[in-house]
Amino acid sequence: MNTPPLLLGVDLAEVGRIEEMIRAHEARFLERCFTDRERAYCDANPKRRAEHYAARFAAKEAALKALGTGWSGGIAWTEVEVIRPPDGAPSIEMTGKAQELAESLGVSGWRLSLTHGAGFAIASAVAWLGCPDGAGRGESQT
Ligand SMILES: CC(C)(COP(=O)(O)OP(=O)(O)OC[C@H]1O[C@@H](n2cnc3c(N)ncnc32)[C@H](O)[C@@H]1OP(=O)(O)O)[C@@H](O)C(=O)NCCC(=O)NCCS
Repeated sequence: MNTPPLLLGVDLAEVGRIEEMIRAHEARFLERCFTDRERAYCDANPKRRAEHYAARFAAKEAALKALGTGWSGGIAWTEVEVIRPPDGAPSIEMTGKAQELAESLGVSGWRLSLTHGAGFAIASAVAWLGCPDGAGRGESQT
């Protein structure tokens, strides 16, 4: 059987727990876990701030789950970044050790889906292996 050219990760984050971490450690927690761009996005919506942070927290865990190693090997939380175009689907960008790991596994692209409410945030991350976005495999993009 052929190995599928995809890696998949999913994660759930409790919004209340993220809210508590923000309350208890504010700058230290946020700067350790989130990039400037992520913080700017989440902080722009005070009403749902903790939800946006929880979704990004789940996204980072989901992406690392897809890579299969978790946070071992010295990967920093900020090396896995959720990019959010103003009116489009979020995606993942990696830097540093996370990027090196992804490249060593042959990852050529990511898709990310987020959902969040007052209680929980869920993220599902898919990485492509090999040809970028399945190009050359006859796969269609939707
Ligand atoms: C996209 C949409 C369906 C989100 O549904 P929702 O129930 O309001 O919100 P959810 O909690 O389930 O999801 C929120 C997340 O959806 C993601 N999202 C937003 N727009 C998106 C889009 N166009 N495509 C994919 N994901 C999107 C975001 O990551 C957002 O979280 P964030 O703001 O923290 O980054 C809704 O915003 C919508 O209808 N937008 C306009 C139409 C559209 O763009 N449709 C395309 C997808 S069907």
